[in-house]
Amino acid sequence: MAEPLLEVNDLRTYFSTEEGIVRAVDGISFTLDRQERLGIVGESGSGKSVTAMSIMRLIEPPAGEVVTGTITFKGRNLLEYDEADMQDIRGGQIAMIFQDPMTALNPVYTIGDQLMETIMLHQKVSRKEAYDIALTAIEDVQIPGAKSRMETYPHELSGGMRQRIMIAMGLSCNPDLLIADEPTTALDVTTQAQIMDLMLHLADERGTAVMLITHDLGVVAGFCDNVQVMYGGGIVEKGTVGQLFANPQHPYTWGLLGSLARMDEEEQHRLRSVRGAPPSLINLPSGCRFRPRCDFAVDVCAQAFPLLRDSGEPGQESACHRANELDLKSIVQEEEVTA
Ligand SMILES: Nc1ncnc2c1ncn2[C@@H]1O[C@H](COP(=O)(O)OP(=O)(O)O)[C@@H](O)[C@H]1O
Ligand SMILES: [Mg+2]
Repeated sequence: MAEPLLEVNDLRTYFSTEEGIVRAVDGISFTLDRQERLGIVGESGSGKSVTAMSIMRLIEPPAGEVVTGTITFKGRNLLEYDEADMQDIRGGQIAMIFQDPMTALNPVYTIGDQLMETIMLHQKVSRKEAYDIALTAIEDVQIPGAKSRMETYPHELSGGMRQRIMIAMGLSCNPDLLIADEPTTALDVTTQAQIMDLMLHLADERGTAVMLITHDLGVVAGFCDNVQVMYGGGIVEKGTVGQLFANPQHPYTWGLLGSLARMDEEEQHRLRSVRGAPPSLINLPSGCRFRPRCDFAVDVCAQAFPLLRDSGEPGQESACHRANELDLKSIVQEEEVTA
């Protein structure tokens, strides 16, 4: 089997705060293949962005630190790169798109200048060539009047347009991996769908793998091959999108699914949200981190931390002590009958 594009192994990223150590990402492992579309989903505060920032080496010591683990990208551990090498990786081989494009765009430079700067940083081209590449990049993201857009400033564009520019910038150097962190969360629903379609279409054309971070399982269902669910700094379930939707193995995944409006089914399902609040990442509960919110917790759940293990269909994994014993799907159906 070909080696994965990205292999994260036992990554732990902690922040030290006045209240104590925040274990934002606490021992996650996963792989991402070339051209794969991987969704990372979980409630706010589950460690999704810190995962992305760790991969990009954007965690700033001394406040935050990758305390252990490896992040192997194309066979080399990014954690061993010096800053000069990382600058080459960032934007050149791994591009990142954030929820708020204004955090990445500089308000005092034109769109054209910023695109050209990125292009010239990563490709050995002249200014003229960079201009042409930038122009094509704007056309690729379907912004009309590319030439005049080169002269505009970020604040003159709508949120959707700015996100298109970020996609243009991200893909202008043909990266192997695009990390999109809640790229459309700030946009209205129609624009969201257009931007997602555009981003993934362009990524496919270029053979770029996509790591799509979102709190929205609906987005994952529409756009990803594989998905992993994060909870309290860990991965609690992973599998193909089909597996997780048809046959969730972790009660948390099941809870997330319940909070989705089921468009595929005619009858009106009761909307369920996961009761309770996410755990403090400073004082984590003993055993399973989801235990205080779980309807199925038993003694062992307080005693032992559940590791990811095979559960459900081949290739599916869940970090639940009871995963192979609970049949969540039939429990849901029973509940719906008696409700
Ligand atoms: N710079 C920081 N200092 C302290 N804690 C942080 C910092 N950045 C993130 N965290 C904490 O790490 C946890 C995970 O955050 P994050 O990865 O941003 O969550 P999300 O899944 O919503 O993207 C949260 O509890 C957050 O408060
Ligand atoms: Mg986030």
